[in-house]
Amino acid sequence: MPATVPTPASVSRPAKTLIDPEHVLRIVDKNAGSRGALIAILEDLQATYNYLPRDALRIVAKKTGSSLVDIYGVATFYSVFSLQPRGEHLCSVCMGTACHVRGSPRILEEFEHRLGVPAGQTTPDRTFTLATVNCVGACALGPVVVLDGEYHRNTTTRDVKPIIHDCLEAGRAQKISSDQRIFRVAVACPACNRSLMDHDHPIEGQPTIHVTITFGSKHGWLRLSSLYGDFRISSELEIPPETVVTIFCPRCHAELKAVRTCARCDAPMIALLVRAGGILQICSRRGCKEHMLDLGD
Ligand code: FES
Repeated sequence: MPATVPTPASVSRPAKTLIDPEHVLRIVDKNAGSRGALIAILEDLQATYNYLPRDALRIVAKKTGSSLVDIYGVATFYSVFSLQPRGEHLCSVCMGTACHVRGSPRILEEFEHRLGVPAGQTTPDRTFTLATVNCVGACALGPVVVLDGEYHRNTTTRDVKPIIHDCLEAGRAQKISSDQRIFRVAVACPACNRSLMDHDHPIEGQPTIHVTITFGSKHGWLRLSSLYGDFRISSELEIPPETVVTIFCPRCHAELKAVRTCARCDAPMIALLVRAGGILQICSRRGCKEHMLDLGD
């Protein structure tokens, strides 16, 4: 049966999200005391409900003693969090300068027309959320549309309909959200601000984060999965477990070292600039899974 694109006439009203207070409390307890606990709690809530329901945030505030204002401050700081129910498929049209001059406003209009919702809204049946972003670090490929983490480059208005249909047919969102803690981050070097994203050497179809590393007398390249919460890497070097590596920007050669050390193993943390805002920190020890999105001090 051919895929159909939702229209205002074909969609139904959203159902109210039912909150399980016990589940929310378990999420709070699980993350209590960890560094970046509030962000971890919000990640888990986002993964559970696909957005941050107000009732759940009230429970978090009461249980943690945080003010709702502070919680909303964190929730609205990161674009990965949503205070509105999100659709099964997240479609982001880049409206950054490079994409804008190459016609992204027309692409956005076409998506709005075909999905029947304006930017920033979700179709009432929660199939699609249409969003705009300011830059996804792939300016030379614009206009760029990112649908469920997949980049569509040099997009034209004629591409919009097939993009939507292909998404519905492939069911890519279900595949990516099988681990719902995973979302993609685009990062840059904190020293030179140039993108570290490598679209030519993907891991599992996703762009990678390209850096250079040294340990002992060895020196070579390393590519990290750009999916937050995913620890797959590829490298020309054999990196033994537990090895602490020093990581550099391949462009300006600055060391990407954070001020903090790892809360789990005390190895230096690596700092990467997140394009959407904030700092991504990951542990430099092979096998350690400490990582965090950091608001900074
Ligand atoms: S402006 Fe669109 S990717 Fe940079």
